[in-house]
Amino acid sequence: MPVRPSAALLVMNECKQQFDVLIVGGGVIGCSIAWRLAQSGQRVAIFERGDAGKEASWAAGGMLAPLAEADRADEFFALCVKSRALYADFAAELKTATGIDIEYRTEGTLFLSLTEADDHELEERWRWQHDAGLNVKRLDAGCVRKLEPTINERLRWALKFPDDHQVNARQLMQATLSAAQAAGVQVFAQTEVRRLLSDSHAGKNRIVGVETTQGVWQAPVVVLAAGSWSSLLAEATHLPVTPVRGQMVAVASPTPAVRHVIYSRRGYVVPRASGFLIAGSTTEQVGFDRRVTAGGVASIIARAEEILPGFGDLALLETWAGVRPGSADEMPVLGEDPAVAGLIYATGHYRNGILLCPITAQLISELLTKGESSVSLTPFSVLRFAHRRAVG
Ligand code: FAD
Ligand code: GLY
Repeated sequence: MPVRPSAALLVMNECKQQFDVLIVGGGVIGCSIAWRLAQSGQRVAIFERGDAGKEASWAAGGMLAPLAEADRADEFFALCVKSRALYADFAAELKTATGIDIEYRTEGTLFLSLTEADDHELEERWRWQHDAGLNVKRLDAGCVRKLEPTINERLRWALKFPDDHQVNARQLMQATLSAAQAAGVQVFAQTEVRRLLSDSHAGKNRIVGVETTQGVWQAPVVVLAAGSWSSLLAEATHLPVTPVRGQMVAVASPTPAVRHVIYSRRGYVVPRASGFLIAGSTTEQVGFDRRVTAGGVASIIARAEEILPGFGDLALLETWAGVRPGSADEMPVLGEDPAVAGLIYATGHYRNGILLCPITAQLISELLTKGESSVSLTPFSVLRFAHRRAVG
């Protein structure tokens, strides 16, 4: 539960600028929501602990890949597909607003079967996706090799997801930040939110602002978009959002080795416009440790080598790691806290925050400017974790 502001803290606010919405966290989720809200005429501030866009959003692979990553056609999958459908226009709008090209590429995604065990997984994926009427194709090995001649000769067959596209996540991060700023959003970097502040009227709790390392700001709405750090705020410990480390590797690829994003069950390889390949990733429960480890890099290279023999001979350009904000059920937490009016969650995007960025921004902005969102947020409500709040 957010804490009540002390009189002394509120006095500090008197000389500060007024905002309609305060956003905690300057990743793609916070910045894209801020952008949409500012476009609707809201006065918005983002508070960022460090420098905006240097955490998970910067570390991501940039795949927009619901068919490659989801396991069933549920509400989460539907949200992912809706967001994917927004991307071409989103990329064009960001380009117009900022001049930044987020390198939206539409060659599609291949998912390879390299072993007998892979066959079972691909068959299962094919079955539910085909039954759901999704755009998924079965390709035999010869067909795949015509598309991508450098793929491992052990290839048995593959699925192709023509509509699973990709962007450059770092360019996306920079573009959403720049678009937000150009639309009038104020970004307070090196400003950590320490507490959420609330007031109680007639037995109802309302958010009234935030206490930061640079002072107190008042506003009737606070959006919690703090990624893996969301549940560290004492008032949000009931949110089961925890960091899940993912390491990444980039290598030089002077002649384009592949054109598609390529997955196996063990890893993925992503071609980038500027002549390099990235490969990922690991899934590690190691808290907020964002170190790159020798073992992590070795495992990524081995899995990439399995997809593309020769990957390990390419010049190593960069390694990095980030922490995915993973919720207990791996779905995002979106919408208002039923117990605290004005407290809005936009967190827990786990492996799909890049993919889900346009729809999250749209729905949270609709919620705040129109009173309801065009897609129901009920499946993503914090209420599904209500038992955690009850037990503290
Ligand atoms: P972040 O980008 O982590 O931003 C949260 C921000 O909040 C941070 O900047 C942090 O400093 C700030 N903050 C935290 N606490 C406070 C506080 N108290 N006060 C002020 N600021 C605070 N997704 C895809 O869709 N496709 C992919 O291909 C993909 N690949 C990935 C690969 C890797 C290796 C990783 C790690 C992630 C990947 N993801 C991918 C997931 C995606 O990166 C995340 O879901 C998404 O970036 C989450 O965005 P965010 O804005 O919520 O979090
Ligand atoms: N979505 C890719 C990853 O999280 O590694």
